[in-house]
Amino acid sequence: MRRPWVAGNWKMNGLRETNALLAKGLSLLAAEREIDICVAPPAPYWLQVVDAMEGTGVRVLAQNVSEHAGGAHTGEHSVSMLQDCGLAGALVGHSERRQLHGETDVVVAEKFAAVRKAGLQPVLCVGETLDERRAGETLSVVSRQLLAVLESQGPDAFDGAVLAYEPVWAIGTGLTATPEQAQAVHASLRAVMAAFDADRAGQLRIVYGGSVKAGNAAGLFAMPDIDGALVGGASLDAQEFLGICHAVR
Ligand code: G3P
Repeated sequence: MRRPWVAGNWKMNGLRETNALLAKGLSLLAAEREIDICVAPPAPYWLQVVDAMEGTGVRVLAQNVSEHAGGAHTGEHSVSMLQDCGLAGALVGHSERRQLHGETDVVVAEKFAAVRKAGLQPVLCVGETLDERRAGETLSVVSRQLLAVLESQGPDAFDGAVLAYEPVWAIGTGLTATPEQAQAVHASLRAVMAAFDADRAGQLRIVYGGSVKAGNAAGLFAMPDIDGALVGGASLDAQEFLGICHAVR
C-alpha cells in the first residue's frame, strides 16, 4: 500500500502576512499521520514557512531548483540552498517551467539528479497539452518525459521520489481530468516504470494535479493508481486544502 502524498504548490502567490494566515490554518494538519503533506511556497518565503510548519509534520518543497551547484547563475537557487533552508525536496519539470522557461527533458532530468544527489525528494512533473491530447499523443508525451529520467538514471532514481501527472489543459482551468482519464495515464506511467523494475513501479507514488478541489478529490483518489495530489489554486485556501488532504485517506 503506497502512503498517500499531497502537496500545495503556492506558485507565485502570497506575502508574509497571507503566508502566516495560511500556515496557521494548515497547522490543523499536524494531526495527520496517515499521509505525507507538503507545501511549496515561493523562494523568498522558504524560511518563514519552514518555521511556521515546525512541529506539524508538513514539509516544505521548492517549486524549482537549479541543476547547477552554484556560481554565475543569477536568480537561480541551488540544492545546497534548499538544504540550508530546511526544505525537504523540489518540484522539477512543472509545465509552467517547461512552457514559460524553456526547460527541456534533459534539463529536467539534470534537476532531478541534483535533488536526489542532495538526499532531497524530487517531484517529477509530467503532462500533455490540450493539442497533444487531441492529437492522441498523451501517453507518448508523458512517457517521453518519464523516460528522460528513467533511461539516464535508472529506476532506483525514483526511490523516495514522487511522480506528478499534471495535464496542462487542467492546470488552473477548473477543467479537472475525470478520474478515469487520470487513472488511464497513471496506469500507463506505472507500466513504463514496471518495464524497468516491477517492484519499484508498485512502490512509486503517482499523484494527480490539475484543478483538484475538495469536492473532486475523493473521486480521483478512489482510482487504484492515483496516490495523491499536487494542488495549485486550492492550496491557497486552508479549508479547501484541508478538505483535499482529508479526502485522500
Ligand atoms: O502544481 C500544481 C498545479 O499546476 C495545479 O494547479 O490550480 O490547477 O490546482 P491548479
